[in-house]
Amino acid sequence: MQGTFVTFAVALALALGTASAGVVFDRECPTGIEAKQYFSVDQYLGKWYEMQRYESEFELNFDCVQVRYSLNEDGSVEVSNSAYNLFNGSSINALGRAVLSFPEEEIIQGKLNVSFFGAPNDRSNYWVLDTDYDNFSVVWSCEQLTPQQSEESFWVLSRTPNPITDRDILFRIHTIMRRYIDRAQVRFTRQLDDRCPVF
Ligand SMILES: *[C@@H]1O[C@H](CO)[C@@H](O)[C@H](O)[C@H]1NC(C)=O
Ligand SMILES: *[C@@H]1O[C@H](CO)[C@@H](O)[C@H](O)[C@H]1NC(C)=O
Ligand SMILES: *[C@@H]1O[C@H](CO)[C@@H](O)[C@H](O)[C@H]1NC(C)=O
Repeated sequence: MQGTFVTFAVALALALGTASAGVVFDRECPTGIEAKQYFSVDQYLGKWYEMQRYESEFELNFDCVQVRYSLNEDGSVEVSNSAYNLFNGSSINALGRAVLSFPEEEIIQGKLNVSFFGAPNDRSNYWVLDTDYDNFSVVWSCEQLTPQQSEESFWVLSRTPNPITDRDILFRIHTIMRRYIDRAQVRFTRQLDDRCPVF
């Protein structure tokens, strides 16, 4: 029973944007945060490696995190998240579905509603703040828990498992992090460990 719950919770945390995937702050969700404009789902598809994230209780100890986005026949995006626990060798996979949050907007923003295990796509919980599609993506989300508390999630994704070294790309990532991210809560994901599986 306990094991089932933990597995489920971890999969949920990996859902990139669901509750329990992030850091709780004693404040309302910040406003005025802009997602990427003229966002292209097609260019965003494919495989991504998680490089950094806000640590969470449930994602604790999971590394080698990979995400694969592919197009479903109905135009939605299939989300497949995988991760490996370097401490005990267990791996997990979570399958989900994503849709653009506001597909009717004149200027499409990088906001998506991601859900797992067939749950409804009723929350705009995956905001791409910046991406060049070919190298990196910075993703953020916030969920209001109570009027005084909110939970934020944050991920830096890369197209390769290698550390990001390009100065222009690092500048773009750091520009966002300086504005919105509490660096003390950020954890680097191990991707180059020999034990990381090929998902
Ligand atoms: C490994 O650790 C994770 C998270 O702490 C836990 O959910 C999982 O059940 C563990 N697996 C094994 C095989 O011990
Ligand atoms: C996505 O979620 C938001 C609520 O956060 C909702 O307003 C919007 O209609 C949803 N989009 C779709 C396509 O379901
Ligand atoms: C970004 O990705 C493209 C496509 O893979 C590659 O050609 C380019 O060198 C990458 N840029 C950097 C700075 O790594």
